[in-house]
Amino acid sequence: MRRAIIVGTGSHLPEGVLTNADFEQMVDTSDKWIVERTGVRERHILTDEKLATSDMATAASAHALEMANMQPTDLDCIILATVTADMTCPSGAVRVQQKLGANNAFAFDVSAACAGSLLGLDIGATLIESGRIRNALVIGAESISRIVNYQDRNTCVLFGDAAGAMVLRAADETTRGVLAVVTHTDGRQWELIHVPAGGSALPGKKVTDPTLFTVHMSGREVFKFAVRALADLSHELMRRCQLVNTDIHWVVPHQANRRILEALSQKLAIPLERFIINIEHTGNTSSASVPMALDQGVRDGRIRQGEAVLMLAIGSGMAWSGAIVRW
Ligand code: UT7
Repeated sequence: MRRAIIVGTGSHLPEGVLTNADFEQMVDTSDKWIVERTGVRERHILTDEKLATSDMATAASAHALEMANMQPTDLDCIILATVTADMTCPSGAVRVQQKLGANNAFAFDVSAACAGSLLGLDIGATLIESGRIRNALVIGAESISRIVNYQDRNTCVLFGDAAGAMVLRAADETTRGVLAVVTHTDGRQWELIHVPAGGSALPGKKVTDPTLFTVHMSGREVFKFAVRALADLSHELMRRCQLVNTDIHWVVPHQANRRILEALSQKLAIPLERFIINIEHTGNTSSASVPMALDQGVRDGRIRQGEAVLMLAIGSGMAWSGAIVRW
């Protein structure tokens, strides 16, 4: 059976750091509120204005290729999940292709916000299973700081910048690899998280209010939606793979809010110790979040061969995506 297996992971965090103490100077907030309500203590920020999302994506990809023991020219396809590409056109993926020198790969972006990297995994694995390609690079990378309103305490304390990458390779496998991937969308909920300006509905040249280029979010509604949708998605994935909660060794979730993960842990009856959580030091890094947490779990030796890993992400759309991978 032709399967996609993840043979390399990598991540990159930019050097700049904003702590909760920094936010106490910027907006009406407190370290106590942020830690209790979100679990975040610090987040990394791409402060160098000469750098953009493709630079972080390229750095994470180089680490993932090194782990996979592959050259950039081995890649057939590059999928970059991002809502903060370097520019509107061309795609961010073509900049990554150029910077890596991955000249044999076709390259494109997917736009599904926080769910984007798992949608990318869905597409990459499907291309491999179909026989169309052998090797794919799937990246989630975001410079969310560049679209955050640092005067809006409801959103600015939540987000950070980062990149995470996964290298997929075709293999004849019956047990290992991507066992199932599922993606859902509910476009009726599009207003819950959106950036109003900069697209064709409200082009930049017509906008005088800069806050329209920043993230608008109805946090409480998103929170409730996320817990319900991610629990249902987990059950759907486990049913497809004929697994139950005790078969899942690791949950690698999108890191949007520690309380969402606590609620999910209760609903799934999977202890929080089996969740790979890094939100304390990264904040919500949108599409980078899951591949970055996966990379940490692989590199620190928590995720080992033969183990079942449940990956979950949700965000603007609303779009939510998940996968079960046998390592
Ligand atoms: O990655 C995409 C998916 N995104 C998510 O999953 C985000 C999901 N939502 C959340 O994580 C939470 O809803 C937030 C962290 C965004 C907000 O937490 P909450 O407990 O849902 O707070 P809330 O929005 O219900 O607001 C409660 C209070 C409000 O004050 P009043 O109206 O009760 O006086 C807010 O103005 O907390 C206030 N508040 C803050 N206070 C201090 C909101 N942000 C802050 C802040 N510091 N930074």
